[in-house]
Amino acid sequence: MEEIGIALVGCGRAGMVHARNFAGRIRGARLVSLIDPERDAVSAAARELGVADFSTDVRDALKDSRVHALVVATPTVYHRDIVVAAAHAGRHVLCEKPMAMNVRECVDMMEAAERAKVKLQIAFMRRFDPGFLAGKEAVDSGRIGYAVLVKSLSRGPSVPQPWMFDLAKSNGTLAEVNSHDIDTLRWFTGSEFDEVYAIAGNYRCPQALPAHPDYYDNVVLTAIFNNGMQGIIDGAASVSYGYDARVEVLGTKGVLFIGRLEENSVLSCAEGRGLNQSVIRSWRHLFRDAYEAEDREFIECIRGDRLPKVGGRDGMMAVSVVNAGNESIRTKKPVKVANLD
Ligand SMILES: NC(=O)c1ccc[n+]([C@@H]2O[C@H](COP(=O)([O-])OP(=O)(O)OC[C@H]3O[C@@H](n4cnc5c(N)ncnc54)[C@H](O)[C@@H]3O)[C@@H](O)[C@H]2O)c1
Repeated sequence: MEEIGIALVGCGRAGMVHARNFAGRIRGARLVSLIDPERDAVSAAARELGVADFSTDVRDALKDSRVHALVVATPTVYHRDIVVAAAHAGRHVLCEKPMAMNVRECVDMMEAAERAKVKLQIAFMRRFDPGFLAGKEAVDSGRIGYAVLVKSLSRGPSVPQPWMFDLAKSNGTLAEVNSHDIDTLRWFTGSEFDEVYAIAGNYRCPQALPAHPDYYDNVVLTAIFNNGMQGIIDGAASVSYGYDARVEVLGTKGVLFIGRLEENSVLSCAEGRGLNQSVIRSWRHLFRDAYEAEDREFIECIRGDRLPKVGGRDGMMAVSVVNAGNESIRTKKPVKVANLD
């Protein structure tokens, strides 16, 4: 089979992680085209990656016969239209999380992919992380008895990209930061969210306030699942101290911890300076192998003609929890999560 030609749509932070993988690390794939409406961003990416073909218009990639698949890493609000257009053009898609803004958009994307018989994978890379995989296996093995509570936190160090302050484009921190935690809770509980209650506030991003008074950079969401298990999600943006992604599972006979904050095992103690250890600074670093495994999985699904491990339904269920969480923040009340069976 010939190499799978990849076009990257959106040459920002996440897009470039995938692009660097597809530019040489993923067997059976080749990065052939780059798309971004910002000419400076797309030409800088092309220079770095040594890709000759780049454009500011996604339609160019969809007309290019060398492009078999798209990686979509634009702001969330554009995911639906790009993915539907790609499916109509017969292209497979790896779409960054959050899948879309609402369930209706997710259904459009899934239906378009099914009709065109193309693969649609959603980029929940934690499902490919060795620590998370081992944790899931331990829970399923019964090592801690029956799991009762899954707590998952994600806290990002950097100031959000400007479009992320606009809830109409991003759906806020629950979507941008915590989509991964929502997916982890679904995965670890083996169940769907029944009801959520969330509180949120803006504590570190005063610059967002004038234009986006509803933006929140700190959120806590509690949940009850259809199978009776409990969940807690803690999300934060702009925390500056490092990139923090940890999970705790409490069972009837034990507890399990996944994740770490320290970058490596070097701990120093020097006169007058106390104990020192370096901290993980970025998701790019912490999940580097997981992003690569996720990209490899996408190509193997296409080449082996099988369904991705993480598909449209996983993306859609996470979006429905984000929407319920945001409604709970607005109304200050618990909100039932739509049953989408
Ligand atoms: N899986 C992860 O761990 C992870 C990490 C970061 C971001 N993301 C997701 O990736 C997506 C992008 O986030 P980011 O942090 O890279 O944002 P970003 O702002 O760094 O990059 C977005 C890029 O998309 C471009 N763009 C805007 N509109 C476009 C369009 N219509 N067509 C093509 N390109 C367009 C922008 O010019 C920009 O270069 C979001 O959905 C985000 O949630 C996922």
